Amino acid sequence: MIDLFQKQANDWDEQTIPQQLSQTIGPMMLKHLTLDSSMDIMDFGAGTGLLSFHFAPLVKSIAAVDISESMLKELTAKKALQGKVVAYCQDILKKPLSKTFDLIISAMAMHHVEDSTLMLQSFNKHLKTGGHIALADLDLEDGSFHPSDAKGIFHHGFDREAFAQQLKDAGFINLEFFTPHIIQKEGKEFKLFIVIGTKA
Ligand SMILES: C[S@@+](CC[C@H](N)C(=O)[O-])C[C@H]1O[C@@H](n2cnc3c(N)ncnc32)[C@H](O)[C@@H]1O
Repeated sequence: MIDLFQKQANDWDEQTIPQQLSQTIGPMMLKHLTLDSSMDIMDFGAGTGLLSFHFAPLVKSIAAVDISESMLKELTAKKALQGKVVAYCQDILKKPLSKTFDLIISAMAMHHVEDSTLMLQSFNKHLKTGGHIALADLDLEDGSFHPSDAKGIFHHGFDREAFAQQLKDAGFINLEFFTPHIIQKEGKEFKLFIVIGTKA
């Protein structure tokens, strides 16, 4: 598998946008979720662990799922995550994990997955009944968020209404949308959403 984040992994945490997202998405998810120390959670597209970092002190374990070895290498080197986080470098849509979770979290990874229907079905299968999702990504944008030659971008954000329908079709209920942050980039604004929901 080609590692599209190899060049960025080393200084990912020093970049302005990932830093802004970490400071806004994680805290807003925590505000709207009830966590406890018995919970096993999955961070889908965990990258260097910027989102996992907020959850690690509050839950039992985190499965950090990503297809980029270089991003996960940064994650596993972080002392604050050691003992809590297990990294899985695999495409769970093709090769599911053999366990289920109380919660799946994700930040800015879903637009990298071509088949979002399959992805949401996979999230459903990886959750216990009554388990939760807290997913963050870009609202629908005009395609200018990423450079035009960027590889592995399959969605220019998501339309909230259409995405809510996809989530319902995949078996999720009690959906609530929030806006954690609006990114200012090259004179344009890019709105982000968090959707929280429950596996029926
Ligand atoms: C923009 S980064 C976000 C990383 C991290 N969540 C954060 O907020 O800093 C997107 C991440 O999604 C990962 N990714 C892309 N496609 C994926 C897939 N099919 N399964 C798991 N992770 C994937 C990438 O390798 C990358 O680490």
